[in-house]
Amino acid sequence: MEKIKSLRGFRDIYGDEVIRFRLIEDISRRYLELFGYKEIIIPVLENTGLFVRTIGDATDIVEKEMFTFTDTGGDSVTLRPEATAGMVRAYLETGMFAKERISKLFSIGPMFRHERPQKGRYREFRQVDVEVFGIEAPIIDAELIWMIYLILKSIGLAEYTIETNSVGCPECREGFKRLIVGYFEDKKQDLCEDCRRRLQKNPLRIFDCKSPGCKEISGSSPLLFDNLCDPCRVHFDGFLSHTEELNIPITVNKRLVRGLDYYTRTVFEVTSGGLGSQNAFLAGGRYDNLVQSMGGPPVPGIGFAIGVDRLSLLISTSVKKDGSTVFLAYLGDRAKGFIVPMMRLFTENNVKFFYLPDAKSLKSQMRYADSVGADTVLIIGDDEIDKGILIVRDMAHSSQTTLPLDLTNLIDNLKGLSKK
Ligand code: HAM
Repeated sequence: MEKIKSLRGFRDIYGDEVIRFRLIEDISRRYLELFGYKEIIIPVLENTGLFVRTIGDATDIVEKEMFTFTDTGGDSVTLRPEATAGMVRAYLETGMFAKERISKLFSIGPMFRHERPQKGRYREFRQVDVEVFGIEAPIIDAELIWMIYLILKSIGLAEYTIETNSVGCPECREGFKRLIVGYFEDKKQDLCEDCRRRLQKNPLRIFDCKSPGCKEISGSSPLLFDNLCDPCRVHFDGFLSHTEELNIPITVNKRLVRGLDYYTRTVFEVTSGGLGSQNAFLAGGRYDNLVQSMGGPPVPGIGFAIGVDRLSLLISTSVKKDGSTVFLAYLGDRAKGFIVPMMRLFTENNVKFFYLPDAKSLKSQMRYADSVGADTVLIIGDDEIDKGILIVRDMAHSSQTTLPLDLTNLIDNLKGLSKK
């Protein structure tokens, strides 16, 4: 029979990779809680309109990458390609906006984009998504960078670059759009088909195009950064001076653009040379008009997302052993009778306990004990039962001793041995 395989771009995360994912997510959670963030779990499936309206209909994500389908009720629904849109919807729908002056939220889970799969780019990937609602002051932009710095340090990542830019506000962008439409209009025949369309619909998206021809043309165009309005420039300078105070090296990249329409002012990306072409493993920015554009009050927002799959490619696994692991090796039916009482005893006392069901020989049991990382092996056979003892083998030192076969005091007796 033909085997059913996973879909292209979808994969199983197991073994060391699962440990790296957990490390990233656990450390992120710890720092997010330290900085006062609350976890929220939001749906994976939303109305298609949510993403079209927030991410923007002329973006690659909305034009090409969404898993959209009509459900049996006839509604167009989409597997979330990112979390910010859903977070804003939840912030409004739960009424949080009316109850809290500031909301600091995070959510961890899978996102879905129908991109061409390659190293670091999958159709299902995980994000740690972080959002702050209600702070306009640029100190929060710097606080996010500081938290990111601490998370990456704790994960053990040393080599990375934080790039930042300001993409301005609708006001400075309107003026700039007129400027660049003039610039691109002249070179229209050399733009790709998508960008010719974008020139009418959303000219700023041309900066996001990956086709070499368009890249070359936009590479020497005027820059929004040089045309920011005064309040946007003051805001960005404030952000930079706070990052200086914090002593975090951050590079201004005037050409940095983001592939989603909702951003305003500060945007940033964290990249690493170790990733090849998919080099951003974290990205985010401000979205000061998004809440209002979704029917809410004028609440500013800022956030970022860690691409867990990509960050996990950059760190080495360091499996920390937590607690000891006890293995029972038994010989004969009488000894087998100790499996259940020992399983109860050790697991009730939070000790990892292994045994090999249907074991045929001591050798196979010792091999299995090794493979599960047991540090103590208890060996019982008829002889030991007759003498009222059990053999305790210390796997790290390959040494053996005996203890009384007395389950009531076994845990304490084992602790006593390990202290010696
Ligand atoms: P984004 O830049 O689209 O931003 O994605 C954030 C991160 O998710 C990327 O830097 C990357 O590490 C990871 N990522 C994106 N696509 C893929 C993929 N196909 N395979 C593997 N990893 C991927 C956002 O999603 C915004 N919602 C971030 C944000 C939050 N902005 C404000 N708040």
